[in-house]
Amino acid sequence: MKKIKYRELSLATKSIHGKHLHAFKGPVTLPIYQTSTYRFENSNDAIRYAQGDPNVLVYTRYHNPSVNEVEDRITLMENGEAAALFSSGMAAISTAILSVCKSGDEIVSTPALYGGTYRFFRDTLPNYGINIKHVDPLSLEDLAYLITPKTKVVYFETPTNPTLALVDIEKLVKLTRKMEKEFRKKITIIIDNTFATILNQKPFDFGVDVIVESTTKYLGGHADLMGGVVVGSKKFIHNVKELAKHLGGCADPFAAFLLDRSLKTFELRVQRQNQNAMALAKALEKYPKVNRVIYPGLPSHPQHKLAKKQMSDFGGMVTVEVKGGVKGAVKVCDSLKVAINAMSLGGVETLVSIPVYSSHVKMSKEELAKHGVTPGMIRISVGVEGIQDLIEDFKQALGKL
Ligand SMILES: Cc1ncc(COP(=O)(O)O)c(C=O)c1O
Repeated sequence: MKKIKYRELSLATKSIHGKHLHAFKGPVTLPIYQTSTYRFENSNDAIRYAQGDPNVLVYTRYHNPSVNEVEDRITLMENGEAAALFSSGMAAISTAILSVCKSGDEIVSTPALYGGTYRFFRDTLPNYGINIKHVDPLSLEDLAYLITPKTKVVYFETPTNPTLALVDIEKLVKLTRKMEKEFRKKITIIIDNTFATILNQKPFDFGVDVIVESTTKYLGGHADLMGGVVVGSKKFIHNVKELAKHLGGCADPFAAFLLDRSLKTFELRVQRQNQNAMALAKALEKYPKVNRVIYPGLPSHPQHKLAKKQMSDFGGMVTVEVKGGVKGAVKVCDSLKVAINAMSLGGVETLVSIPVYSSHVKMSKEELAKHGVTPGMIRISVGVEGIQDLIEDFKQALGKL
């Protein structure tokens, strides 16, 4: 039989079958290795482990077959070399960052990040001597002076949370590589691709080094698991996994099983979320009680041209700013019947949240302005419900304003 070129398979086939396109006896679904430790046949196994043989299973914080299978599947889906699965998106992000940065190093990031990441950068990393500088995504040329010989990481998200502003990935990579050459030092470019997902945006095609993602969101997709993933080169992931042994944010085998189940419908779900988001965004643009609809797929989005260039579709996140400021946003969220008033995103259920009360709490007025977050904003994570029901639901809730 001709050798299967797994990397050339479609995303859906990769996410359903991984590297198992061959006949074998066994379960159709992923077995859960719900164990913390592994039996040795005899002490030779322990000796082989002590001598560094990576094939000896010893302890689930180090490796677990259910977790490793999902890592392989995601590696294939994202066209990376290797992946490390974590207990949450924040565990993935923090471990990835700490695997490259030490005291005295600098990170250059865009200011508009998921609030948890932003606060980790602002409140925790400086305590360990790692400092953050911000680059305005609309003035990426500033990287020429923001990047110094101390810069280890350039970190960004696109689209950003919750304002759905875009960062020009190609430009950011080009400018960073230029500085890398000038200083003759490796700079790791890390993207949080949680919002777009690999279906809509392929960062490795633009030369990004590392993708981090909260698998709690679209990859998980059912609001029932917590997880995170880092995808990159074999060397990078080796270092991440070594540090993960110390920091301990390993994925749980049962969460890996749930994620495996979710990956099989990933493409179907996100395609429907893309379609629903576009239809809802278009419908909401027509309501007078809505000041602004932000969705990269709308021609009214200031970076729509860039969105078309670097995204194949525009994702399931829509942000609206309603009349009446935060009181208006509260009224609308409390009046919805189909959409659920809850934090998080990426699941089959449509969720709404008010950024000033959720992702962007504990930020000063200046910080909110820097992030472009206003009190009347509602972030909508569009699910896979019937689109007409969603449009009617928002119409009746906005009617209460
Ligand atoms: C874009 C983004 N990145 C990372 C995270 C953190 O993921 P987790 O909550 O799984 O730790 C979130 C959570 O909302 C997110 O929205």
